[in-house]
Amino acid sequence: MTLPMDFKLKSNTFNIIGRSESVRKVLEITQKAAATDSTVIVFGESGTGKELIARALHHNSPRADNPFVPVNCGAIPADLLESELFGYEKGAFTGAMNSKVGRLELAHNGTIFLDEIGDMPGPLQVKLLRVLAEQEIDRIGGTKSIKIDVRVIAATNRNLEKDVEEGKFREDLFYRLNVIPVFMPPLRERKSDIPLLLKYFLDAFNKKRSKSIQGIDDRAVEILCNYQWPGNIRELANFVERMVVLSTNSVLSPKDLPEKVLTDVPKEVWDPPTLPEAEENPSEILRRSLKNSMFTGIPDEGINLKQVVEDFERELIMEALEKNDWVKNKAAQTLSLNRTTLVEKLKKLKITRD
Ligand SMILES: Nc1ncnc2c1ncn2[C@@H]1O[C@H](COP(=O)(O)OP(=O)(O)OP(=O)(O)O)[C@@H](O)[C@H]1O
Ligand SMILES: [Mg+2]
Repeated sequence: MTLPMDFKLKSNTFNIIGRSESVRKVLEITQKAAATDSTVIVFGESGTGKELIARALHHNSPRADNPFVPVNCGAIPADLLESELFGYEKGAFTGAMNSKVGRLELAHNGTIFLDEIGDMPGPLQVKLLRVLAEQEIDRIGGTKSIKIDVRVIAATNRNLEKDVEEGKFREDLFYRLNVIPVFMPPLRERKSDIPLLLKYFLDAFNKKRSKSIQGIDDRAVEILCNYQWPGNIRELANFVERMVVLSTNSVLSPKDLPEKVLTDVPKEVWDPPTLPEAEENPSEILRRSLKNSMFTGIPDEGINLKQVVEDFERELIMEALEKNDWVKNKAAQTLSLNRTTLVEKLKKLKITRD
């Protein structure tokens, strides 16, 4: 598996795909931050790779051989989150039959990944702030503080600055976390990476699903580049897996694309309007008409130009009249003539309906 760019990953299980300018920036910061103990906060929409970056940071840091402990602050019910993070002593509350080591303690010497930090309830935000400031925790019901040494990486899909303004997130905690911010770009803002990601996931799912799909055709790639990707890279990975599993063709084409792409991408992209034929050059029409007429070129003995032109004129006028059921107005239009000019020519050339 080739690694994109010159990002030196210690563990090649983290493949961060992308060559766009915004991804290069993210990788540059990641690489610099990995070497330190600084707190990092990763911002980005759902599915943009926040967790992937957090893991890459840890696995390329001096703490790589120690635990990486993720905590999803949005998925754990608020009342359980405190005991998950801080742990408790036996008998701390009804039901606490044994003591439990919290995740912050488990992350000692390693990294704690506080995912969806924006969903952390207010009172816990205060407790976390203390941990970050003093690097020690109190288990619930405990009597003494425990020293810990953890590196903190947080992530959120929320606009934390706005949450601070609206009083939903503590300002002091925000500043404590916002040491090295990393902004994960949404996929729709780095469309140049889409073909690369499609290829990467196609290979991955071919392998995983024992299939041998050769590729995705240009039309399908173009359509996918015009999709808005609300679920970002996770959504792209899911689409590719679905297509790999369901398609019976060796090359994926627009008809293999998921229904959602069909409804969301404007019709013009699926079905580009054929360009209106460039207006034909009058001399080209004349040349073609001449070719189709009886005239086969100037014979050795020469021609009577006046006569040939007259014959040709008669032929074209007859055709225009036939085409328009002998309605002179319309025939004149077809020939770009005034009606009166056409009538004069009919007289001169002695053209009548019979
Ligand atoms: N640049 C990338 N290259 C390859 N795979 C990627 C990349 N970015 C994300 N992925 C993959 O996409 C999926 C979603 O990434 P991840 O879970 O890190 O996103 P997230 O931002 O944490 O999403 P959420 O907010 O929903 O938790 C994962 O399977 C991840 O491995
Ligand atoms: Mg995540």
